[in-house]
Amino acid sequence: MKAVRIGQPAKLDTLHVVDIDDAPAPGPGEIRVALKASSLNYHDYAVVTGMIPAAADRIPMSDGAGVVEAVGDGVSEFAVGDRVVSAFFPDWHDGAPPRTAFTRVPGDGLDGYAREAITAPSHWFTRVPQDYSHAEAATLTCAGLTAWRALFVDDAIKPGDTVLVQGTGGVSIFALQFAKAAGAQVIATSSNDAKLERLKHLGADHLINYRDEEAWGAKALALTGGRGVDCVVEIGGAGTLDQSMMATRVGGHIALIGVLAGFAGPVQTGLLMAKNLRVQGLTVGSRSQQLAMIAGIEANGIKPIISDSFPLDKLADAFRHQESGQHFGKIVVEI
Ligand SMILES: NC(=O)c1ccc[n+]([C@@H]2O[C@H](COP(=O)([O-])OP(=O)(O)OC[C@H]3O[C@@H](n4cnc5c(N)ncnc54)[C@H](OP(=O)(O)O)[C@@H]3O)[C@@H](O)[C@H]2O)c1
Repeated sequence: MKAVRIGQPAKLDTLHVVDIDDAPAPGPGEIRVALKASSLNYHDYAVVTGMIPAAADRIPMSDGAGVVEAVGDGVSEFAVGDRVVSAFFPDWHDGAPPRTAFTRVPGDGLDGYAREAITAPSHWFTRVPQDYSHAEAATLTCAGLTAWRALFVDDAIKPGDTVLVQGTGGVSIFALQFAKAAGAQVIATSSNDAKLERLKHLGADHLINYRDEEAWGAKALALTGGRGVDCVVEIGGAGTLDQSMMATRVGGHIALIGVLAGFAGPVQTGLLMAKNLRVQGLTVGSRSQQLAMIAGIEANGIKPIISDSFPLDKLADAFRHQESGQHFGKIVVEI
């Protein structure tokens, strides 16, 4: 069967299609899944370009969706023909993340979903929302669950709250959709006016071009009448944290998710303290949180925003497109 492997050195030009052995018949507790779609995350980009070191020949991609083809002894949750989607941390079921969680992430510590089929323990997967295509389901594993956890596990966003989302990548657009479904106001930022216009159509209440408006934190604060937002979905990291702290209300929450604007830098500790802010780092979520998200998606009829679609053998081109920053929402791979 067909798969994609990382080359040496790891970079987009060395990503290559290979023929590998078929996925075996499932053993006890396992299922065999015919994979139909995956989706790109910044994390996958970091793996395939060598920013995150992975084993030579690693099969990339953390997100995988498909159809159960065979079921091993003792599996009761799934039957042949069920549509399923992968869990980012296959061994994190509930509670706090295991200390070693990242060593067992498909597409990073383990081989991932850039292939036509996989045989794995059934708990590596969950059901998918009703009426979701495989491509739609494949957007949930990383980006969807991260946004869900930021708003509803690490926070309790409710009608009337205000959420600030940064940029128009996968996590931020899910966060916008989830926040609107919860009845919150959303302040959305982007570097691009055309993308801001699209955010408005998705329900964003206030728009800020963060390129034109360097002090966007003060602008967001003003948009809330000086009170500040309840939650910031922080995907920039060190380069954006100051503005996020400025934007957040006293006692508010900054969900520290990404580092697109820098890994490290000075922190205004005085502001952090004076505003009684909670900066909560997070890494995706657990399998039980994924099931809660799926129920929430079904109850609210939420569909992911898919920007572009590429076939598996054009995976490098899909990452080049992500690199260009032209996408709006998720880039998916059809297998
Ligand atoms: N901690 C976790 O569990 C977790 C999970 C998922 C993702 N992440 C991280 O979250 C970040 C976003 O991931 P993603 O998959 O959503 O990425 P993505 O889809 O590639 O999103 C990229 C978008 O982010 C926006 N952006 C870039 N720099 C920005 C800045 N300085 N300020 C505001 N927006 C900026 C841009 O939007 P515009 O073009 O509109 O400006 C860009 O198009 C990455 O750092 C990723 O590693 C972390």
